[in-house]
Amino acid sequence: MPPTNFPTMHLLNVLGDEFPDKLPLLTGPWIEKINLGSGGVVHGIDEGFVNVDRSYNDGWLAGSDVGEACIVAGDVLSDLFDLFEPGCASVVYSHHVIEHIPHRLVRETIKQWASLLRPGGIMYLGGPDAIKVADLVRDRPDLWDEANSFLISGGAHRAAIWEQALIGMMYDAGFSEVKAWGRDRSEFKSHMARVEFCVVGVKS
Ligand SMILES: C[S@@+](CC[C@H](N)C(=O)[O-])C[C@H]1O[C@@H](n2cnc3c(N)ncnc32)[C@H](O)[C@@H]1O
Repeated sequence: MPPTNFPTMHLLNVLGDEFPDKLPLLTGPWIEKINLGSGGVVHGIDEGFVNVDRSYNDGWLAGSDVGEACIVAGDVLSDLFDLFEPGCASVVYSHHVIEHIPHRLVRETIKQWASLLRPGGIMYLGGPDAIKVADLVRDRPDLWDEANSFLISGGAHRAAIWEQALIGMMYDAGFSEVKAWGRDRSEFKSHMARVEFCVVGVKS
């Protein structure tokens, strides 16, 4: 069985480590928690969130069984303000999606996603970190294929992102405090899970 609550489980870890005072947001109403570019059950669709993905429309997720999870078909670039009111959310979560946005639009996109949050709400962004991947393959040239697949994803990725750049963009977007997830991930089974950016910020 695929996991059914991946975003909540993941945020329990990340917030527990970085912003434990924000953990109560995870038990708040699901309607106030938004998962942007959520994917399908295979990715761990979470029943505690409103799950938005353009592929629920007519893409590869159309018609897939999503159990009890609330899903919304929409593009997180162009449909956001048709779907949501600014300030409606306590949590915005997006895992392995921001790198799908053309790099010239990333800064503005982060501002738009941030505008969904009320003050005190949190935004989490995760994905492949270009600098951490480069550091990894410096010592492990045998990981060439895995690293390219992770960074470029057959051409689906349109921006190279790294933690420090992202943290700067989140401060520019109106976050009062932004932290990279500081847990030691060197023991993680997957090489690539060790080289993700995982950044969380609190909206001013
Ligand atoms: C690599 S998957 C990540 C899925 C899930 N968030 C996870 O953590 O496994 C990227 C997802 O983002 C969606 N996506 C990419 N660009 C999008 C956009 N502009 N609007 C809505 N969904 C988008 C894709 O359809 C896909 O389901």
